[in-house]
Amino acid sequence: MEYEEFRKQLTHKVEEKLDWKELATFVPNKLLPVYNWFYYKEGFSKELVDKLIEMFELKQGNMVLDPFCGSGTTLVACKQADINVIGLDVLPTAIFASQVKIVKYDSESLREEAKILFRRKFHQLEWEFPKIMRAMINKYALADIAFFSSQIDRLKNKDFFTLALLNASIKVSYAWKDGGVIKIRKHPVPPLRKLFQRVVYRMIKDVEESKPTNASVLIKQEDARKTSLPDNSVDAVITSPPYLNNIDYTKLYAIEDFFMKMRHVPSLRSFLGVRDGKDQEQAYFEDMKETLTEMYRVLKNDGYAAIVIGNAWLGKEIESDFITAYLADEIGFSVEKILVLNKRFALENRTEKKGVLRESLIILRKK
Ligand SMILES: C[S@@+](CC[C@H](N)C(=O)[O-])C[C@H]1O[C@@H](n2cnc3c(N)ncnc32)[C@H](O)[C@@H]1O
Repeated sequence: MEYEEFRKQLTHKVEEKLDWKELATFVPNKLLPVYNWFYYKEGFSKELVDKLIEMFELKQGNMVLDPFCGSGTTLVACKQADINVIGLDVLPTAIFASQVKIVKYDSESLREEAKILFRRKFHQLEWEFPKIMRAMINKYALADIAFFSSQIDRLKNKDFFTLALLNASIKVSYAWKDGGVIKIRKHPVPPLRKLFQRVVYRMIKDVEESKPTNASVLIKQEDARKTSLPDNSVDAVITSPPYLNNIDYTKLYAIEDFFMKMRHVPSLRSFLGVRDGKDQEQAYFEDMKETLTEMYRVLKNDGYAAIVIGNAWLGKEIESDFITAYLADEIGFSVEKILVLNKRFALENRTEKKGVLRESLIILRKK
């Protein structure tokens, strides 16, 4: 079927659900224990995952896959709901943050190490920070980062403390993520050491208050287009791929990258839709088709896939939601419905309103 024809037939499956607008964003997670250990602008909310778990009637013993797991929202929500889950991503920081969030910690050992860490006497270290870090973070905070990083290295729970330090470092930085670019805005910031201490103790409290479940969580640094997962092995997919005009995460995560290099987390250069010398739109949908084919392969029959995706403006509106549904239909998925969660203006030159872009939740079923 041609796209235009498909699009016409799709209309009766499209439903507005603008009261879920905020659920498609990371904002509600900012107040939630564990979810807020790492701020991920591109993330969606725990509440959205909870609603999908309910919609798909998932239960204990089921297996969910998020092939673009980002900061681990799907992973933590499924784990809390006692549902097994697998998360994949290529971004080192995403893998790292997700892993730190799902570990079962011994809170007494965390408290003991925190006590040791904050009792140590500060000393200046001669660390060479990259230029971009020096532009984003003041020299006192950088000195604190060097000192605490070297101390953390000796601890048993070093990943936990590293995520806390990363979180605090981002909070004191002058960097401001505006769409796909970083801007530097100098403003008064609290001393890093104070903030770090506050973050650590708040995280420990979150650990103490979290209820353990028996769900298994597997996190792998893998490309969503080619996974190592067996055929027909997952009951549902809950995910959100990168959006067409906001794909080069590497530029946006300079501070995060610095921490990952320090922890020797390897990089995987296989971002969806990023290929040298190729038309961006074409590369994006080719990759999307590969990803959908992979989702289809690993899903069990009758299994659902929920995909949150935003449309893009490339001089004209690119209907990523409908095109993705079209590709899914070609692969063999049944497109159950498309819920429009948000509509925003497409801007050119930052202020000129050009059109309205949807952010949608596509519900597919393997038939
Ligand atoms: C929109 S974010 C997902 C956010 C997530 N739902 C959350 O709540 O944190 C998309 C993610 O896809 C990842 N990604 C990009 N290309 C990928 C690929 N080829 N395979 C797997 N993950 C990829 C990015 O690193 C990013 O973390």
